[in-house]
Amino acid sequence: MKIPQLSLFAGLFALLFAGTVHAIEIATPPDVDYSALPPLGQQWRDSNPYRDVAAAPEIGRVAYNQSCARCHGADAATNAAPAPDLRNLNRACWRIVNTDLKARCIADKDAYFAKTVRHGKTIVGVMHMPPWQDVLPQELAWSIQVFIEAQAATKARAQAAAR
Ligand code: HEC
Repeated sequence: MKIPQLSLFAGLFALLFAGTVHAIEIATPPDVDYSALPPLGQQWRDSNPYRDVAAAPEIGRVAYNQSCARCHGADAATNAAPAPDLRNLNRACWRIVNTDLKARCIADKDAYFAKTVRHGKTIVGVMHMPPWQDVLPQELAWSIQVFIEAQAATKARAQAAAR
């Protein structure tokens, strides 16, 4: 009698544990009107097409706060959130003086951003971030990146002023 009881317990435990892990990793779609952004279609771009689009940062801010802030911190303005401070994503590119190299660095970061957001982050079987590609239109993903970059620029200006 002992052994079946034990395996039943182990099975229940595995089920509960699996349930808990998935429950916190749900990708919640933002509810934001992004009709002010030029539409991009289904095929994901490799690089951010919205850096010069005036409406992008505000739409990105709203979408970010609805879907990303609970892990990455409100308004992308903290390095004390459970998930990485996304303002640091393009930091390696800022110091590059050569304009061609800088453009390549940013293109590389754009591709990394899109890949990470679309597929999420699973490391040795543990889901750190859920995949977003089925719930987040790329228009919102790219506008979120534009918003994060605006926050990074604000932080850099504040740091320069404090020096
Ligand atoms: C459930 C929590 C959670 C949510 C919600 C979430 N993320 Fe993440 N994200 C993480 C974690 C944790 C990592 C770090 C994974 C690792 O590398 O260990 C991460 C990593 C990333 C990275 C890579 C960062 C780097 O330095 O390499 C990007 C980009 C990113 N997230 C964007 C987003 C965006 C955009 C959203 C909203 C659409 C979002 N995340 C929502 C938890 C989350």
